[in-house]
Amino acid sequence: MAPRTPTSTADSARAAALEVLEAVRTRDASANLLLPRVLRDRGLSGRDAAFTTELCYGTLRGLGTYDAIIAACVDRELDAVDPVVLDALRIGAHQLLAMDVPPHAAVSTTVDLVRSVSNEGASRFANAILRRVGQGDLPAWIDRIAPNPQDDPEGFLTVSRSHPRWIVSALWDSLQAHRGAERAHKDIGDLLDADNARPGVTLVTRPGLAQVGELTELGALAGRYSPYAAYLAGGDPGALAPVREGRAGVQDEGSQLVATALATAPLEGRDEWWLDMCAGPGGKAALLAGLALERGASLLANEIAPHRAELVRRALRGYGDRLVGAEVATGAGAGIDAELGLDAGIEAELVDGEGDGGGVEVMSPGTGTLQVIAADGIRAPWQPGSFDRVMLDAPCTGLGALRRRPESRWRRGPEDLERLTRVQRRLLSSALDSVRPGGLVAYVTCSPHLEETRDVVRQVVKARRDVERVDARPLLPGVPDLGGGPDVQLWPHLHGTDAMYLALLRRS
Ligand SMILES: C[S@@+](CC[C@H](N)C(=O)[O-])C[C@H]1O[C@@H](n2cnc3c(N)ncnc32)[C@H](O)[C@@H]1O
Repeated sequence: MAPRTPTSTADSARAAALEVLEAVRTRDASANLLLPRVLRDRGLSGRDAAFTTELCYGTLRGLGTYDAIIAACVDRELDAVDPVVLDALRIGAHQLLAMDVPPHAAVSTTVDLVRSVSNEGASRFANAILRRVGQGDLPAWIDRIAPNPQDDPEGFLTVSRSHPRWIVSALWDSLQAHRGAERAHKDIGDLLDADNARPGVTLVTRPGLAQVGELTELGALAGRYSPYAAYLAGGDPGALAPVREGRAGVQDEGSQLVATALATAPLEGRDEWWLDMCAGPGGKAALLAGLALERGASLLANEIAPHRAELVRRALRGYGDRLVGAEVATGAGAGIDAELGLDAGIEAELVDGEGDGGGVEVMSPGTGTLQVIAADGIRAPWQPGSFDRVMLDAPCTGLGALRRRPESRWRRGPEDLERLTRVQRRLLSSALDSVRPGGLVAYVTCSPHLEETRDVVRQVVKARRDVERVDARPLLPGVPDLGGGPDVQLWPHLHGTDAMYLALLRRS
């Protein structure tokens, strides 16, 4: 069915939120890519834009809880409710249960919204349901509809913290493996709450091009852990000159920490050529590039999807003529269209050996150069044993960055894991083949799921005789709560970062 555009009788902010929710549901849109365009098209700015953003993101994050509450208020299955009316009810529930909107306004504006996209009958239905929703506050509803936490703790968290059950279970398992059963039991609610909180904007300075002091003078706060990080209290990061000029960017502090750990890990012998094997859209590549250039080393940034490789090129633009080649070198078989995501750390659609490296020309590194190519990291166009340091930031479920992508938790399923872990293992084997004996590989995911972190590393290491594990914890100085090692797992509720995983491996 074609999307139904709310008429002008509905207020603009709520109509914009409904448009985004409908596109997320019907077209697999990403809210954080679509929303800015919708705000612009509808002329929403300032407080109206902030209100719309909260309506969209808050509703998408809380969807599991709101659906359970709405289900308790309707006398039919939710599947039988007109989907666009259900979207509007979710937006209404978010206002009633989690925002500072007077109840009568939350109900009447949502009823108007439903009338504008449907009919009089549907608006009367919405009115009745929202009045029922408004009869309790959020804790009262949770008491009423969630399973008893003693009998079914995962079921309770699923409903009360609005996460699919398989994700609650996977995050709990990972917390338990890294922090022990008692701490996991204590922390799991905080972790899920952190996924539901709006993340702040963290900036990164590109080494050699900008300093944190420049950002703090513009009102940002110096980062806690990464020497390149600064936190922005509000406003548009693109309005800051260092960001506009490509001398700084937006990047989660966890991503900065894992990239810096690879760059600073002690290495014997040559340290001249680094590889970022899955580089798109280029957040880590831009930081690694600065760190490599500082010591006269070169970086090859590879990405299978050509349009994402182009984003890597843009991320490196601040380094000017250090970037060699006028365009991204693209191989004959690399025409893979991966999902486009603009925020650093976003993972793309999986590509498993569909591409190839054929036809991509890898230049000889020279001193202090940067090159971007589009090729399949599994069938790499470079010579084995070429690199001294390799970053493998593997495509993954993204369960460690749920707070950034409000709809993503409802999109992925446990069935994705088999396909993903197969590719992750192949990429890791290729990364280990790509590094010289004595060189280092960082295996990184923005997911703490044990199957795509600990298990992938264990399986690949077990199948080879030339790999040793390196304790990564000392490479994140000053970062507390890093667990028993040798791998590092960061957590949103403990570190304020995405849940990045890092295993550091040395080829012997
Ligand atoms: C987690 S993202 C990388 C994020 C990036 N390192 C950053 O910090 O901006 C994983 C990337 O791997 C790419 N990818 C997936 N399969 C690949 C393959 N076989 N070879 C190379 N890149 C691949 C995806 O297109 C995606 O851009």
